[in-house]
Amino acid sequence: MTIDLDRIDLSTAAPAEEPARQFYFLAKCREWVKSFEQKHGRPPRSHVTTFGCQMNARDSEKLEGILKNAGYVEEPDEKKADFVIFNTCTVREHANQRLYGRLGQLNRSRKQNPEMKIALCGCMMQEAEVLEKLKKSYSFVSLVFGTHNIYKFAELLWACLDADRMLIDVWEDTDKIVEDIPSERKFSFKSGVNIMTGCNNFCSYCIVPYVRGRERSREPKDILREIEALVSDGVVEVMLLGQNVNSYGKTLEHPVSFAELLTQIEQIDGLERIRFMTSHPKDLSDELIEVMGNSKKICRHLHLPIQSGSTRILEKMNRRYTKEQYLMLTEKIRRAVPDISLTTDIIVGFPGETEEDFQETLDIVRRVRYDAVFTFQYSKRTGTPAAVMEGQVTPEVMKDRFDRLLAEVQAISTEVCSVHTGSVQEVLVESVNDHDPALLTGRMSNNLLVHFPGDPSLIGKLFSVRLKECRGFYYLGEGGHVLT
Ligand code: 5AD
Ligand code: SF4
Repeated sequence: MTIDLDRIDLSTAAPAEEPARQFYFLAKCREWVKSFEQKHGRPPRSHVTTFGCQMNARDSEKLEGILKNAGYVEEPDEKKADFVIFNTCTVREHANQRLYGRLGQLNRSRKQNPEMKIALCGCMMQEAEVLEKLKKSYSFVSLVFGTHNIYKFAELLWACLDADRMLIDVWEDTDKIVEDIPSERKFSFKSGVNIMTGCNNFCSYCIVPYVRGRERSREPKDILREIEALVSDGVVEVMLLGQNVNSYGKTLEHPVSFAELLTQIEQIDGLERIRFMTSHPKDLSDELIEVMGNSKKICRHLHLPIQSGSTRILEKMNRRYTKEQYLMLTEKIRRAVPDISLTTDIIVGFPGETEEDFQETLDIVRRVRYDAVFTFQYSKRTGTPAAVMEGQVTPEVMKDRFDRLLAEVQAISTEVCSVHTGSVQEVLVESVNDHDPALLTGRMSNNLLVHFPGDPSLIGKLFSVRLKECRGFYYLGEGGHVLT
């Protein structure tokens, strides 16, 4: 999106309506940047660090969009930046500890650059104890805001530029969705697209509903408009994002199902691939399975978190499906989309989990034979029902189960992933290989990566590749021809 910031009259008061208000503050930030340039003989440098999920990654692109439009240049080394922002995650305790560690380090570098401003946003900032700790022990932080008001980053940036105290703006919840805020894409050819925010499921271990608020869906017309604009700007693959995309549209004034939304997106000319995440098994409809089976564009990959294979634990987790229902669901999906790759999330060591429950988890892993499993040790999140449940599992038992699960899933996924050896697959070429510049890296529809010799001019194109050799979780291939 192009914005003519020069045409905004900064001598008047800020407009009340959005997004005009944010453009006004963006123009003000740009004035500030110009005076910085005059003073220092260079533009200010910014650095954005993202923790956590794809939703955060997408939010960070919005932060980067504002910073770039204001005139900041991206600085890969955070120590050298004038404005550093951490977009935080709090899904597991470990993520919080990492942030405090990083802040401590950065404060030491700040001594060399006293003008450095540090900002924090994202899920962790929605927790009252975190705010208390920041106020007490990290008072060098300039700006703190949460998940509900990220759309007003331009206004907050402006307010913190000349302030000498920590500015905090964290909202409990919101019913607002602000469209058309500029964003900066990491890749020219693919993009995440938020279709909804928040979560209403309250799985008993999970902090997300408390920090991301209630479920809200964007209007289909706004989503379609955004994707059409992305496609006309060179995007061929979109990843539709939400904590629970299967319940998309239920809270809209005119409800629309996720399957209907996908059908409409499929019709966009020039769009080649559609991905989405995350799906909750309890809301995955037959209609969606049918749409996936008939689609030419929806990728052959479904991330379907199971969390545990024990029906008893699933009930305590408030997941609202049984092991058997989950198994039947995966069978139904495989019948409709035979070449689909299934991936999942599993938590070990949920309170009350016995060895028998854990065996049920191993059993489901052996039966479903996932392409990949993201394994987590249960992490106690204050304020969630599970945090006060009896039978908290000791760290030793948790680690032992985690190691056994990992060994099992790795053995299975190596076998599952290698079945495509020898076939010719369509890949979207994403980058030059990190380790060998003679190789390119492409992503198959089923989400597996392939490294193959090729020219960087192929980046962003769909390309056919023959899979020569499977190396566990990726392939080595040889190039064929351009498909788009
Ligand atoms: N402890 C461990 N893992 C968790 N997850 C969510 N909350 C917790 C927690 N308290 C995992 C779930 C979810 C993934 C994104 O993170 O498996 O699907
Ligand atoms: Fe957390 Fe459950 Fe919502 Fe996923 S569906 S974000 S695990 S509460």
